[in-house]
Amino acid sequence: MTKREEKKIMSLQDLPGVGEKTIEKLRSAGYIDLMSVATASVKELAEIVGEQTAFRIIEAARNALDIGFETAADVYERRKNVSRLTTGSKALDNLLGGGIETQAVTEFHGGFGCGKTQVGFQLAVNVQLPPEQGGLEGACLFIDTESTFRPERIKELAEAVGLDPRKALENIIYARAYNSDHQMLLVEKAAEIIKEKNIKLLIIDSVTSHFRAEYTGRGELAERQQKLNRHLHALQRLADVFNLAVYITNQVMARPDVLFGDPTAPVGGHVLGHFSTHRVYVRKAKGNTRIARVIDSPYLPEGEAIFAITPQGIRDVEE
Ligand code: GTP
Ligand code: MG
Repeated sequence: MTKREEKKIMSLQDLPGVGEKTIEKLRSAGYIDLMSVATASVKELAEIVGEQTAFRIIEAARNALDIGFETAADVYERRKNVSRLTTGSKALDNLLGGGIETQAVTEFHGGFGCGKTQVGFQLAVNVQLPPEQGGLEGACLFIDTESTFRPERIKELAEAVGLDPRKALENIIYARAYNSDHQMLLVEKAAEIIKEKNIKLLIIDSVTSHFRAEYTGRGELAERQQKLNRHLHALQRLADVFNLAVYITNQVMARPDVLFGDPTAPVGGHVLGHFSTHRVYVRKAKGNTRIARVIDSPYLPEGEAIFAITPQGIRDVEE
């Protein structure tokens, strides 16, 4: 293909050999624009349009968008768009390098009652704040797998930061995931709503419970792992493409590191390839205080922070 022909590709319709039917299939799987196709892996798209077409359109989309190899300067430019979302606790923000970051997946794991869900609620409220107050002036997409979402609590947290509680609730788009396939489907279809509603934070609470419940047999572990990795990959792609913060929770009592495969391992053909998954382990401490520890992060230094779950929400521990 000549340079001139590449330039003409402006949207999905312009991709070589792609007809209405294929476009419809792509759209309904959440691939609504060139960027989402360009950043997909052949394997993912092959399930939708077949391997040959997948290969061809990914390549064409990448050429059209001029992605593939990029210079360190380009990476630097893209990283400049990374913003941070406050957790409500300065200590916890500092541990995270200034808050939960966009273009990344941040996972909190720990035992029951350690505060994973409460942190999610707080982030769902804080994301709506203006940047001066540590927010991203955007909405939240909340995928709930355990039916533990509590709008009453959201109202409390919103009031405590000076937001209109009604508006705060309206800015949280809620979806209940009924099983792991449904959960994956919700994420695959999220692109459209993310654009439409100015979503800046995607939460899955918890990301693992359905997978755990459904894949119990010994022989099923590999399959579970594969699906989870694909799911994480989809989340990372959304984070990259839409400059989103992604917050996921994972209930674990011990040995937190056996559940996920290495999410930083190169997955076939993704081009933005800078998986930046931050993993934080939270444990209970005295009273309403909790201790968070960075377990595994591409660039955050290891360390600990202490925070409190107060009636107003996540806060620093008062000295
Ligand atoms: P699992 O989902 O069971 O794994 O737990 P989790 O890590 O999600 O814990 P969660 O975020 O639900 O935290 C529960 C803790 O938060 C409770 O033990 C309470 O201490 C605190 N908490 C929950 N709701 C409220 C509330 O409305 N007000 C206050 N002040 N604290 C709350
Ligand atoms: Mg919870």
